[in-house]
Amino acid sequence: MGPKDEKLYIVMVGLPSQGKSTVALRLQDVFRRNDIPTRVFNNGVLRRKYAPPMDTWSSQFYNPENRHAVEMRKKFALINIRNARRYLTSQGQVAILDATNVSRDRRELIEENLDNHPILYIQCVNNDDEIVELSIRYKVKSPEFSILSEDNAIHEFKKRIEYYRMIYDDLDIERNYLRMNSLHNKIIEEQLIDQLPLYSRIRDCLVTDVVKGLFLVRHTETFFNVEDRIGGDADLTPKGEDQACALGQFFKKKKISYIFTSEKKRTIQTAGMIKDLQQDCTIVPLKEFNEIDSGICEGMSYDEIQRTMPEVYSARKADKYNYVYPGGEGYNTMKERIKIGIKKAFFLNRKTDNIMIIGHRAVNRMILSHFLYRREEDVPYIYIPQDKFYHIVATQDRKVFELMKYQ
Ligand code: F6P
Repeated sequence: MGPKDEKLYIVMVGLPSQGKSTVALRLQDVFRRNDIPTRVFNNGVLRRKYAPPMDTWSSQFYNPENRHAVEMRKKFALINIRNARRYLTSQGQVAILDATNVSRDRRELIEENLDNHPILYIQCVNNDDEIVELSIRYKVKSPEFSILSEDNAIHEFKKRIEYYRMIYDDLDIERNYLRMNSLHNKIIEEQLIDQLPLYSRIRDCLVTDVVKGLFLVRHTETFFNVEDRIGGDADLTPKGEDQACALGQFFKKKKISYIFTSEKKRTIQTAGMIKDLQQDCTIVPLKEFNEIDSGICEGMSYDEIQRTMPEVYSARKADKYNYVYPGGEGYNTMKERIKIGIKKAFFLNRKTDNIMIIGHRAVNRMILSHFLYRREEDVPYIYIPQDKFYHIVATQDRKVFELMKYQ
């Protein structure tokens, strides 16, 4: 092991549902596209294949007091550790061990067996309870839990997390590690004692938001839209329903696992018609995607505002990006929550390529500004039609940005 070493073990660390597999697969994807032979070794895959008839859905399988299960899990870990070593001894350049690896014992086992190349630990942390909850809901849909009701499966999964928490040792004495917030793709702490190959590429990949296919849709026509009224919580008009139906037809052949909406009826109704034509699709309303709160102007038309509150109208016109509605919000003050919404949506959608967000005019402008270069003063004027949607791809090698018709 030394500065010339070009091979590397990456060892993921973290509780279940913290985004480890997503990070592992993202690294594998980036490396392979750059002709760096890489393979992920996932303990869960082995466990699900070889542990039955033992009940791997049961939290007892993860109880540190359950000797037999502990031995079995150690056996699976060792198979992957040895396979990873074999892989790097032959053609592999990077081997990624994807498992919780939360105890020091387990990490010592890894270090004893993988002593021929450096190891980089990547610890994933996500403390957002709402996201962890949604993520668990997604996980318990897997065949492993099929004999349980959803509530029981969630209960078992949460207990599994608690068992892992009991044996959790933070990274500290390990030579090389990165601690990252996997929701925000942000590095929180890093320690490097060895010179690691590929380090800057790894770091860059970890902090990049990768979007393989984002469909950014605006809700279809509502009764408020027809009267040019802002805010509120209006229903779709019959024309809006037809538009939503057309969206459903358009997206029928693309697999959409999640549709992220706001909490407003108009986005959820639009999403409902798309979901109806999908095989397995979940609508996730996020408060972060609620339309700009127009405070004292909620429910009014632009004409009415101009007539009855000319000072509000002209102040907003003079600096639309920074103007904050009395008792409400402005584009600038929405920025942070929209950013959080995007992070949540990407985190939850991590296993599938297509992601759909159904938002509102101001919300979609702010989402677009996340991907587009626009001066702040131009953001509140980005074109957000109801008969078209934006399709965005943003990976390290490819950028696509197109406004497309669905009818
Ligand atoms: O009119 C629809 C709407 O989504 C309103 O609810 C919202 O206040 C407005 O668009 C945002 O657009 P602008 O910032 O251009 O007023």
